[in-house]
Amino acid sequence: APVAAVIPAAGRGVRLGPGAPKALRALNGTPMLIHAVHSLAASRHVSLVVVVAPADGPTEVKSLLDAHALPERTDFVVVPGGESRQESVALGLAAVPPEYGVVLVHDAARPLVPVDTVDAVIEAVRDGAPAVVPALPLADTVKEVEPATEPGAPEPVVATPERARLRAVQTPQGFDRATLVRAHETVTEDVTDDASMVEQLGLPVVTVPGHEEAFKVTRPLDLVLAEAVLARRRL
Ligand code: C5P
Repeated sequence: APVAAVIPAAGRGVRLGPGAPKALRALNGTPMLIHAVHSLAASRHVSLVVVVAPADGPTEVKSLLDAHALPERTDFVVVPGGESRQESVALGLAAVPPEYGVVLVHDAARPLVPVDTVDAVIEAVRDGAPAVVPALPLADTVKEVEPATEPGAPEPVVATPERARLRAVQTPQGFDRATLVRAHETVTEDVTDDASMVEQLGLPVVTVPGHEEAFKVTRPLDLVLAEAVLARRRL
């Protein structure tokens, strides 16, 4: 089945500090979103990229994509995003024609994901998994707390899940298209990733190995790290 990639890029990126929408901030002179689109289009299986742009930004995003040529085998479409990531993904998914049996959802905020990770996700979906997530073990121990109402106030610890059983998950997450469409139609609670919606349908979600370079650019230090990774790749 042909593979489409939906790239939600409509977030404001408040945690990154003031400035342009996060996906349009530059890494080594090129917008993060363009790096992300090229990282997905690097897979020879991906033949359509749907970019979900900030609600007021589709024209700007379209001209950016026109200026940074994709491989000839790859089409792209730009649609305006929504209030939440979930809504943005649903809007992107609605722009994927039905012949695309496999859909990847990839954060524009993960611009440097290696093509081997993208291909591993696609392969696992093609092998029959309805949902696939790239995952890494955690370096930090994780505590569950009772969240404080004021920022900075001490928070009581409620539990410490066994670290060896935890994974940090990344994107692209890969789906059988019909499963992802049904998940978005069915699940109404807020979620932070698409695979959790498939879990809520009671369907299996499996992991494949993630990659350090697929980290999410969230805070200012992440921009420093991303530029360092790009500099190392050029060596
Ligand atoms: O905020 P967070 O880092 O979880 O955002 C993950 C991705 O979702 C980013 O690429 C961001 O641009 C996107 N997003 C979106 N629409 C929103 C909020 C976030 O496309 N309303």
